[in-house]
Amino acid sequence: MSGQADSSVTKARIESLSNFNDQIVTIQGWVYNKRSSGKIQFILVRDGSGIAQCVIAKNAVAPEVFSICDSLTQESSVTVTGKVHKDDRAPGGYEIQAEDLSAVQVAKDYPITPKEHGVEFLMDHRHLWLRSSHQHAIIRIRHQIIKAVREFFDNKGFILVDSPILTPASVEGTSTLFETEYFDLGKAYLTQSGQLYAEASAMAFGKVYCFGPTFRAEKSKTRRHLTEFWMVEPEVAWADLNDDMDLAEEFIEHIVQTVLMKSEPELKVLERDLTKLQPVKRPFPRLHYDEAVEILKKNGVDFQYGNDLGGADETIISQQYDRPVMVHHYPAACKAFYMKRDPLRPELTLSVDVLASEGYGEIIGGSQREDDYDTLIKRLEENNLPRQPFEWYLDLRRYGSVPHSGFGLGIERTVAWVCGLEHVRETIPFARMIYRNTP
Ligand code: 4AD
Ligand code: MG
Repeated sequence: MSGQADSSVTKARIESLSNFNDQIVTIQGWVYNKRSSGKIQFILVRDGSGIAQCVIAKNAVAPEVFSICDSLTQESSVTVTGKVHKDDRAPGGYEIQAEDLSAVQVAKDYPITPKEHGVEFLMDHRHLWLRSSHQHAIIRIRHQIIKAVREFFDNKGFILVDSPILTPASVEGTSTLFETEYFDLGKAYLTQSGQLYAEASAMAFGKVYCFGPTFRAEKSKTRRHLTEFWMVEPEVAWADLNDDMDLAEEFIEHIVQTVLMKSEPELKVLERDLTKLQPVKRPFPRLHYDEAVEILKKNGVDFQYGNDLGGADETIISQQYDRPVMVHHYPAACKAFYMKRDPLRPELTLSVDVLASEGYGEIIGGSQREDDYDTLIKRLEENNLPRQPFEWYLDLRRYGSVPHSGFGLGIERTVAWVCGLEHVRETIPFARMIYRNTP
C-alpha cells in the first residue's frame, strides 16, 4: 500500500479545486462512483470536502494505471494526480484530467449500495452510512449550527463556562438518571442538564453558556428522543422571563438565517423547502399556556388543563404559525423545581418552551429561576429532593441572589427541524437510543 502522493505536487482538497485551474494537483479520497466508455474511465472521487470527476484517458496514463481503474470498487481509497480543468458539466464545476492514479486499498463488497436499505440496516452501518451524501449534508449542517450557536453567544459577551457531566444529583427529575458507581463517594449521575452549574457561573460572570452532551434515561421511543444529546444552555443574571424570550427568538433567528446563508448546497442535497425556513425571523408569536390550551380545544383535542403539552399537542400548536412559537407560563405541576412562580398566579411558572414550526415541536425549554432562598427550600421539599446535594445551589440564593433566567436548546431537534428530517437519529454522528448503543 503506497498512497503517498508525489511530494512535489500540491495536494488539494476538492472544495478548493477552483483555486488550481490548469494546475497539476493530487487529490486523496474514496471512489464514489465509476463509469467507463472503453478508452476513457470516469471516476467520481469524494474526499469529504466534495466530489470530483476524474477523467482517465487510456492514452494519457501508463497501461498499468488504466488497468488499476478496472479493479476499483465503490469506497476504494485512491490518490489521483492530474490537471484541474474547469468544466461546467462536472459536479462541482471542475474535473481532474488524470496523469497518475494509485489504489491505496481496494474495498471488497461495500455494504451500502445505491439500492434501498432499511433504516435499521443503515443505523447498524452508521460508521459507513456517514459517507453517504444525505448523511454527509446533515452532519455538515449540524457543524454549521454549532458554529452559529457559539458565534451568537461569543459575539454577545457571553463566557463559555462548561458544566460537569458527572454530577451528584438530578436537575430535571430523578426518573431519567443514568447512574454509576463513583469510587468511595457513592453514586454519581450523568447530567441531564448543565443548568444548575450555569446558574453558579452566571453569578460569577453575568452572562454565560455551557454546551455539552446531556443524558436522559428516557423510555421514550419517539422521533424526538435520544438518551444522549447535546444541549447549549445560556444563563443570564438580572434577566427575567421576557428577557429570556427575547434572547431565545434572536438566537433561533440567528441559527436559521446563518444556515440559509452558509449551507445552501447541503440544504439542496436534502431537498429542503427553503420557504419554510425563510420566515424564521423575529418577533415569534408568544402564547400564554391558557391560549395554547384554547387552540388545542378548538382543534378538537380532549386536553386536560394543567397537563404538560405532549408531542402531538405541540405539533398542532406549531402548525398554526409560519415560524417558531413561544408558549409561556406552564403549570408548575408539569415543570421542574427550580422554576420561579408567577407572583399573580402561583400555580403557573415563569417558563417558556419554544416550539419549532412545521409540527417539529419543542426545541427550547427555559425559565426564570427561583431566586428566593426560603421558597427554593420549599420547592426542594415539595419535589422530594434531598437538601444536602443542593447546598451549594442554595448558596447562590444566600450570597447576592438576583433574578436570573436561561434556557436549553437541544441541538439534535434543531438539526432535525432545519434539515426537515423525520427522526433525530440521523442528526448526531452516532445516536444513542433505548434500543441502540452501537456502533
Ligand atoms: O426542556 P428541557 O428538559 O430543559 C432543561 O433541561 C433545562 N434545564 C434547560 C435550561 O433551562 N437550561 O430540555 C431542553 C431541550 C429540549 O427543548 C429539547 O430540545 C432537548 O433539550 N431535549 C432532548 N433532545 C433529544 N432527546 C431528548 N431526550 C431530549 N430531552 C430534551
Ligand atoms: Mg422541556
